[in-house]
Amino acid sequence: MKFMLTTSRGIEDLAKKEVEMLLGSAGLKGKVEEKPFDVEGRILTEVEKAYYSDDKGKKREFEIASFLNENSKLLHRVILHISSTKISNLEKGKALQEIYNFVLNSPIEKYIKVSETFAVRGFRKGEHEFTSIDIAKTVGSAIYDKLSKLGTPRVNLDHPTVIFRAEIINDVFFLGIDTTGDSSLHKRPWRVYDHPAHLKASIANAMIELAGLDGGSIVDPMCGSGTILIELALRGYEGRIIGIEKYKKHLKGAKMNALAAGVIDRIKFIHGDATKLSQYLESVDFATSNLPYGLKIGRKSTIPTLYMKFFAELSEVLGKKGVFITTEKNAIEKAIDENGFKVIHHRLIGHGGLMVHCYVIK
Ligand SMILES: C[S@@+](CC[C@H](N)C(=O)[O-])C[C@H]1O[C@@H](n2cnc3c(N)ncnc32)[C@H](O)[C@@H]1O
Repeated sequence: MKFMLTTSRGIEDLAKKEVEMLLGSAGLKGKVEEKPFDVEGRILTEVEKAYYSDDKGKKREFEIASFLNENSKLLHRVILHISSTKISNLEKGKALQEIYNFVLNSPIEKYIKVSETFAVRGFRKGEHEFTSIDIAKTVGSAIYDKLSKLGTPRVNLDHPTVIFRAEIINDVFFLGIDTTGDSSLHKRPWRVYDHPAHLKASIANAMIELAGLDGGSIVDPMCGSGTILIELALRGYEGRIIGIEKYKKHLKGAKMNALAAGVIDRIKFIHGDATKLSQYLESVDFATSNLPYGLKIGRKSTIPTLYMKFFAELSEVLGKKGVFITTEKNAIEKAIDENGFKVIHHRLIGHGGLMVHCYVIK
């Protein structure tokens, strides 16, 4: 069985590692490939079907898709792969005709009974003359026509039993069954307070991985709605976890989120100012934050001073490592450098249509 897994651009290597670890922990054998067809934000895994015996000794299939949906921290979607190809001509009429023919020749009937309702969700990335709606319509009619040979197909766009996902990324077409459903896995059920600039939970987990935590104390000095810390607590982290936030409204939201996640007792939340960090903490092993960019919150001109003051304070208390993300490359690099820190790792991560800079510092 093949699965196309989706995640944020720039963290495919970490997601691949996670998938390998999860498959290994379940005793499953398989290959995991990051960026198949050079497509960013995608991981392809081919896994042998697995079985177990139930209480009555009956052989049952181990549901790999459910297992990944339930346990992954870094993935956005788990899509059962049906077929994929390169589109030879991207001119609108020709591309859509090619997609229609390709889907008509794909083994759709292996994945859906005619009695089941279905919908197609289209997705597109790259330069195209057609829209994701065009893709969904074309694929929908090919599936309909194919199933018509077996009975009367049933389309239900709002509450389908089976969701097909049809993606075109540049010239690669991919068709699968979306086992995750319409809500991406990065939208966590604990998020009862929606911070206007919250971080995707998948990226928060990537930052946690990059920090290489060793059980020491950790602070998010501008924690917003608490995403990184809540995700860390949910992983069962045993070290001290501290969150600081300047605005009461967000701090209250972070507490509400932590309560919903069942980890309120694991995080110490402080109403405070990150530029006065040493007033709240004598020392801390790790620091991590999704720093304010000035795009969504506050004024951009205040960012360089804020970063400079914050990193000066951080240099007083940080023992081990820090992991930060921001769009403000110049401001953070200046603040890191002038306060005696060294960048030990840098990468770009896709977040909300932007590529943000992620730094691990010492
Ligand atoms: C990009 S948001 C963080 C979002 C957070 N990662 C989340 O997922 O909700 C940056 C946060 O920094 C807070 N902030 C800005 N200046 C601050 C300061 N001097 N001290 C503490 N927090 C500050 C903002 O109120 C905002 O909530």
